[in-house]
Amino acid sequence: MGKFYTTTPIFYPNARPHLGNLYPTVLADVLARYHRLIGDATHFLTGTDENTQKMVDSATKLHREPMAFLDETVQQFKKTFNDFGISYDQFIRTTDQRVHWPGSTALWKELVASGDIYKKEYEGLYCVGHEAFVTEKELVNGKCPDHDTEPQHLKEENYFFRLSKYTSQIKGKIESGELLVLPETRRNEIVSLLNEGLEDVSFSRPRRANWPESLGVPVPGDPSQIMYVWCDALANYATAVGYGRDKEGFARWWPADVHVIGKDILRFHAAIWPAMLLSAGMQLPRVILAHGLILSGGRKMSKTLGNVIDPIVLAEKYGAEAVRYYLLRHISPFTDGDMTEEGFNDAYNGNLANGLGNLVARVMKLAEDNLDAPVAVRNHAFPKGVSDALDAFEFTKAMDVVWAEIQALDQRINAEAPFKLIKIHPEAGKHLITELVQRLALLSYMIAPFMPETAEKIGIAVRTNTKPESLFKRIEP
Ligand code: MSP
Repeated sequence: MGKFYTTTPIFYPNARPHLGNLYPTVLADVLARYHRLIGDATHFLTGTDENTQKMVDSATKLHREPMAFLDETVQQFKKTFNDFGISYDQFIRTTDQRVHWPGSTALWKELVASGDIYKKEYEGLYCVGHEAFVTEKELVNGKCPDHDTEPQHLKEENYFFRLSKYTSQIKGKIESGELLVLPETRRNEIVSLLNEGLEDVSFSRPRRANWPESLGVPVPGDPSQIMYVWCDALANYATAVGYGRDKEGFARWWPADVHVIGKDILRFHAAIWPAMLLSAGMQLPRVILAHGLILSGGRKMSKTLGNVIDPIVLAEKYGAEAVRYYLLRHISPFTDGDMTEEGFNDAYNGNLANGLGNLVARVMKLAEDNLDAPVAVRNHAFPKGVSDALDAFEFTKAMDVVWAEIQALDQRINAEAPFKLIKIHPEAGKHLITELVQRLALLSYMIAPFMPETAEKIGIAVRTNTKPESLFKRIEP
């Protein structure tokens, strides 16, 4: 039994979370639940990235005071995560001056001590959507293609981080797998970026007049500057578990076992973050899992583009567990996938209403009608097919293993017809039904990391020997 520390990106809480934001959170949740089931001491971190221009702009547009606006939108994130059964152990906010600021300040000082921070006059283009400097060649018709907005032209004095110094060291660690970047396409992408060489990055911004004091971590020794949002945001993975304030907690959890992120923020996690850690003499995370993007109408689903699917609306119609199911089985973590409500509806009716829901109803009806007492259920090791797939982060494959078992049970029922058998040969019939219930219990164990509430309902049905209320009602598109 080991320890397992997993994280999601921290989110910009400038609007309610959309399906794309829920995705990495559901992936990390499955990993956390699985590791708890197999007995690992587990810490699951998520949170919000708040010290940003985006936040100030969004609040200003709504004539809101930024901190009050943040408190509200952060609540919406927490509520959405709770509604979807996200079992996070910790929710970090980068405006938290007790939890986060001591560590991000301490980390900055380490970078300074290593001689990796220097001051420089800088002129460039800043995309607020990315919260990053962009280059001319990344623009299309003068606009950022991801956000359809013109970047700001900035000329300011900043502190820079010597990212260039760490290029070859990071490359070595990624190529050797010491820092495992998955999937391979993303590993290749980052290696080729490293082959081109990394340029130093701006790591601070002058504090602007419309920023409240409580937003933005001041640069140690120079409060006229605040840390650049990515510098402060990346640090959250370490500060959350105690870096800079709780040595024991930090030693217990660090290094992170898996950072789940989207491929759009790979460069920050697989280049800048490792460089910061190397500069500070800290261990690197073990795995960076960079999933693909959920597209809507062929483009990245994003608040800025306004093509988002609201997970709450989906959940009101189909249930939160169905949304988890869809994200885990029908969206590949390794490539982009377009999503439509029609496809969602088909998957729901075919595999949840007819597949899983129908199987549970059939078996438990047989059990309720024919068995005198609940079936005793043996303890099992977590099924290997599922754990092998999860150890390799093959979420869709793990789900396929579960659905193959559902299909096998359906076929068995069709072939051996327990409802007939029980009439002509009651003992054999009872025996078969008992076995079916046992396999249903095992099935509930298998799906627990993916669909925890459904697993619980099946567990209760088995323990009380009753057919549950329909788990997934058929829904017309
Ligand atoms: N705040 C930064 C992350 C800092 S981590 C130290 C950020 N925030 S975000 O809110 O814009 O995005 C958070 C995560 O949601 C990212 O991993 C991003 O990949 C993911 N997604 C946002 N839109 C997405 C899709 N359409 N599809 C899948 N995931 C996407 O970036």
